Amino acid sequence: MKVEIYKDKNEGGQAAFNIIKDGIENGAKVLGLATGSTPVTLYNAMTSSDLDFSNLTSVNLDEYVGLPATNDQSYHYFMQEHLFNKKPFKKSYVPDGEAADIEAAAKDYDRIIDENPIDIQILGIGRNGHIGFNEPGSPFDGPTHKVSLTQSTIDANARFFENESDVPRYAISMGIGSIMKSKNILLIAYGEDKADAIKATIEGPVTTDVPASILQKHNNVTFILDEAAASKL
Ligand code: GLP
Repeated sequence: MKVEIYKDKNEGGQAAFNIIKDGIENGAKVLGLATGSTPVTLYNAMTSSDLDFSNLTSVNLDEYVGLPATNDQSYHYFMQEHLFNKKPFKKSYVPDGEAADIEAAAKDYDRIIDENPIDIQILGIGRNGHIGFNEPGSPFDGPTHKVSLTQSTIDANARFFENESDVPRYAISMGIGSIMKSKNILLIAYGEDKADAIKATIEGPVTTDVPASILQKHNNVTFILDEAAASKL
């Protein structure tokens, strides 16, 4: 487990970009991508670079259930805006939160992950230690599945919506089992409100109460933190 601490999210984003660039130069073909505010500086570094992603595949972690791709809070929309419009990939997968049968869509997504093994997975982290939308209590070997969001996650994400009641209550998320199959994992966290989750993830026991703590068992993880997120280590 490598822990790298940077002054701020701009330096962190550049560091994450350098790892991805090296990975691609060394043959990485599939990137696992994340949403939320955290990866934005990384995506900015990617879009302003001269790297070409048109031979790569991307597989996103999660999506809200019930938000159409045209909704500006959907993760489909987020990815178009922040990355894909400027840097198209050969093929980009995002879970289908609008599927009539979410369970079937989840099974399909695991087949996609099996066919496109992830070389480098980007992760953010929730204040309660969630990764993707795998909330505390999620099994460490879980597949892609439908998730009931916790109130803590709904509250944290309410800032992006007009009203708290507009925040979707369900999501479809890659499971922790699917995430752990990635060859390399980059977990990025910035800001003081992530400091407790980061301390529990890196220094606490491996427990489903803190989903990200399972990363202690992965053999190729790098944490990219700013000083505030690292302040309790
Ligand atoms: C959401 C996403 C996570 C993300 C988390 C943190 O819950 N599903 O993948 O890591 O938010 O978001 P932020 O980076 O905005 O703090």
